[in-house]
Amino acid sequence: MIRQEKMTVVSQKQIATNIFELTLRGELVQDMTPGQFVHVKVSDSLEPLLRRPISIANIDKDNSEFTMIYRAEGRGTKVLATNREGQLVNVLGPIGNGFPVDAVKTGGTALLVGGGIGVPPLHELSKQLNARGVKTIHVLGFQTEDVCFYEEEFNALGETHYVTVDGSKGTKGFVTNVLESRAPEFDVFYSCGPLPMLKALEGFYPEKEGYLSFEERMGCGIGACFACVCKTTDQMDKDYVKVCSDGPVFPKGTVAL
Ligand code: FES
Repeated sequence: MIRQEKMTVVSQKQIATNIFELTLRGELVQDMTPGQFVHVKVSDSLEPLLRRPISIANIDKDNSEFTMIYRAEGRGTKVLATNREGQLVNVLGPIGNGFPVDAVKTGGTALLVGGGIGVPPLHELSKQLNARGVKTIHVLGFQTEDVCFYEEEFNALGETHYVTVDGSKGTKGFVTNVLESRAPEFDVFYSCGPLPMLKALEGFYPEKEGYLSFEERMGCGIGACFACVCKTTDQMDKDYVKVCSDGPVFPKGTVAL
């Protein structure tokens, strides 16, 4: 159920260039699943009014805490980055349909492919897959080394490959370069990142079961404003879907790319 809550800042850290990790505590955490997101009101003053959609990178139900990782580039997220321990942040969530964790059987292997700020939700997904006895392989793409994050965290969960556009870390190029050269064996793939990456992945594994999380521009975040509509393919029984309320995760091949 989507609720609004003023959550308490547990910690805020800068973990890469312009990339922040914010941990919040509150009751909403109990309803969270990997791949869902929250809609954060960045400031209680009049400006900026809009909420910002941010994915969930880590869920800790025992302590009622969750972590989100975001890029502070626009005015709203820069304001969010000024929040300190003990302050309150207005959060709406959890929103959307996340990744189907049970799509891979225990003992199976999942391939997780992320790009940039699409990487964070794969962290919680990988944790939950590992907890079910699924092996995970991570292929994570970034622009440059200075915006890479969570290397230790992903390495602790499974085999992890980094890719940067300029070659400053890991393989030079795009995630598909690693998929080509390593040819990982897996049962199901999950991905979150920019559209060209999702499209490339879909074309790369036409026979595989896969789930894609879309990062659409959002307005209301709750299915009311149509800011996030995407055209579907003929594999779906409707012409359009709303990324916020129907997604953000969709089975491969159902949204037109
Ligand atoms: Fe308003 Fe999706 S953001 S309908």
